[in-house]
Order: sequence, then C-alpha cells, then structure tokens
Amino acid sequence: MSTQTTDLRIGMVGYAFMGTAHSQAWRTVNRVFDLPLHARMTAVSGRDPGKVAAAAAQLGWQEHTTDWRSLIARDDIDLIDVCTPGDSHAEIAIAALAAGKHVLCEKPLANTIDEARAMAAAAARAAAGGVRAMCGFNYRRVPAVALMRRLIADGRLGEIRHVRAVYLQDWITDPQFPLVWRLQKDRAGSGALGDIGAHIIDLTQYVTGRRITGVSALTETFVKERPQAAGGLGTVTVDDAALFVARLDGGAIATYEATRFATGRKNGLRVEINGSRGSVVFDFERMNELEFYDAALPSDEQGFSRILVTEPDHPYVAAWWPPGHLIGYEHSFTHQARDLIEAIATGGPITPSFADALQVQLVLDAVERSAALGSWSEVEPALTGIAV
Ligand SMILES: NC(=O)c1ccc[n+]([C@@H]2O[C@H](COP(=O)([O-])OP(=O)(O)OC[C@H]3O[C@@H](n4cnc5c(N)ncnc54)[C@H](O)[C@@H]3O)[C@@H](O)[C@H]2O)c1
Repeated sequence: MSTQTTDLRIGMVGYAFMGTAHSQAWRTVNRVFDLPLHARMTAVSGRDPGKVAAAAAQLGWQEHTTDWRSLIARDDIDLIDVCTPGDSHAEIAIAALAAGKHVLCEKPLANTIDEARAMAAAAARAAAGGVRAMCGFNYRRVPAVALMRRLIADGRLGEIRHVRAVYLQDWITDPQFPLVWRLQKDRAGSGALGDIGAHIIDLTQYVTGRRITGVSALTETFVKERPQAAGGLGTVTVDDAALFVARLDGGAIATYEATRFATGRKNGLRVEINGSRGSVVFDFERMNELEFYDAALPSDEQGFSRILVTEPDHPYVAAWWPPGHLIGYEHSFTHQARDLIEAIATGGPITPSFADALQVQLVLDAVERSAALGSWSEVEPALTGIAV
C-alpha cells in the first residue's frame, strides 16, 4: 500500500544525456520505491523549440519551454533539475534556490570555485527555509559502492592506508573528433579532471569518509586543436588527462587518474582501497559486484571474494529484482532521485550537499594549481569564505 500523499513537481533544464538519465529516474522512482512524495514531470526546458518539444514527448514531460527562468517563476514547480553544461549551473541553481525551489544539480557543481562557493552559500541560505540542494554524483548510489562504504564504516577494512582510483575513457582519441563543449574551458570548467576525475574524488571521499587534504598533479592535453562546427580548427582549452597523488585526512595516501585517452577503455571507473584489516575493489564495468579481502579470516581461508551485490539486504536492492538479477547504470539515477525525495520529505540529511560538492571543487582547483606550478598544493578548507 502506497503512502504517497503529495506531489513533488519537477522542472528540468537540459534534456540530452543527463536529461535523459534523470527523466528515466523521475519516471521510475515512485513505481519502484514507496516514497512520501510523488515525482511529477511538470516541464522541461531547452534552447531549441522543436527539439525540446520532441524531448518532452519522448521523455515523458507534460510541458516544455525554451526559457528556464519561466520554470523558476512557476508556483506549480517545486524542484529544478539542472542537466546543462557547467557554465550555466550557478546561474540556474542560485536563481532557483532564491525562489524557494529545491535543486538537483549535475556534477561538477560549477566551473570555478567562486561559482561553487556562491552556490554553497545560496544552498545554506535556502536550507533555513526548508529548501534542499543536492549535487548529482550518482555513482554513490550504485549498491556495490554503498556496500563498500558500509564495510569501511563498520571497520571491516581497519585503518585505511591506500586509495587507488582510475576513471578511464577513450572517446576523443581520434584527433578529428570535434571541439565539443566538453573540450572548452569556458563551458566545461576543465576536461577529464572535472568531468570524470570529480566522480572518483567524490566516490573515494564518500566511501572512506576521509577528505583529500593535498595533491601533487600532472595534466596533459594531447590534441591541442580540433575541428569546429563553424569550420576550421579551434583550440582545446582543457586537459585530456589528469593524474595526481594525494593525502587524505586520517593518514591514507592515494593515486588518481582521469583520462579520455585510455584507448579501449569506455567507462572504466575502478577503485581499490587497502586497509589494515582488508581491501575492497569496485569496477563499474562489473557494477553488480564487489571484491572483498578479509584479513581477519584464518590464513588458509583468505583471498579476494566476489560479492554479488544483489541480495535484499544490500543497499537499494530490495526494491528491485530477486538475487542475481542484475541492475544497470540508470538505476544509480533512480536511487539518487529516491534519496533526494526522501530527504526533501523527511528533512533528513542530504548528500552530496552543495557544500560537499564545493569541497570536490576545491580538490579540482588544487589539482589544477599543482599541475600549473609543478608543486604540492593544499586543498583549501571547504567552509572558508562561505557567506551565509
Ligand atoms: N552524473 C554523471 O555521470 C554525468 C554524466 C554526464 C554528464 N554529467 C554532467 O551533466 C551536465 C550535462 O551534461 P550532458 O552530458 O547531459 O550534456 P549534453 O550535451 O548531452 O546535454 C546538455 C543539455 O543542456 C542544454 N543546454 C546547454 N546550454 C544550455 C543553456 N544555457 N540553457 C538551457 N539549456 C542548455 C542542451 O541543449 C542539452 O539539452 C554536465 O554538468 C555534465 O558534467 C554528469
């Protein structure tokens, strides 16, 4: 028996890759999870009238508009879902929060730390009136990742010593691949670093409960000019790859690698964590599994075991299928929508908050500073300078 009593009316900005993934989540979430609020797909906005009309019909939105500000002005919209490139996150999210709308904003939170600070401050101000803001680091919501966090929080790994994280893609290895927005600093903020490096920064900090305090980094742009839509070549203004070593509070040391030039690797997000009592390994391309080494077992029983994370007592799983019936990429967005609705309805903690996402932004900034200077960079404390 459903306990749904009230609607959560959503206005979404942007309808392409993430807009499609978020639409799938909003369509599905109340059919799978029993929640106190019912997601209503009230209106979607985009810049092209024909395309946004077609997207609304295909994705299941009741109305469409070419003006995102009109979504914020409406009384019958409760939440603004920001699925646009980073150069518009701050403007849309801050306007929405000021109008008393809850906000879900895609990652990375912003293109600069100034924007991210302003967004975290806007979220802090809005929180006083019960308005909630979440950043879309969806990989937190993969059941195996949530299980990894639970094992670490329960002390099963002991003291964390090593974090080893890579996020490997290969979609721009061809030098003829065009100069899309993701390769332009003014639109994307940074390249592989902010796009996929941000995910492994957030994921590893989330599962360990530890923050990166300082980094030493190296970035590279292998292909410096690419074909432009308007003709001719344009300059690539972001990194193609970013590598860094880091210290976490609590004493662990870490390595991170984010690249769009790992030929053959499509979405290779892999994290290994070694502690004094055990290790865990997660590989997104086998996202229903978690490898666990328990050093507390008798030595003749030790070895990495493969946990199939499909049991009802695994995070999020009970709502889905019988054990062994696997889930996929899109489920992480449905889980994200579930957690957001739950937090809005109950007033419970919201993670990752804009303050959490600001902290990731400060790590991205430290990586860029370190790569530019060729020296160690401390990560600025997240709360410095947030005017609430
Ligand atoms: N969580 C994830 O795993 C994940 C994956 C991919 C992208 N993202 C993030 O999602 C955001 C969007 O990326 P995407 O892959 O969906 O991009 P995309 O290019 O597929 O879609 C962008 C959408 O935004 C619209 N748009 C662009 N500028 C706009 C503006 N000024 N006003 C209104 N609409 C505008 C475009 O028309 C398009 O519909 C980025 O912040 C990106 O980093 C997150």
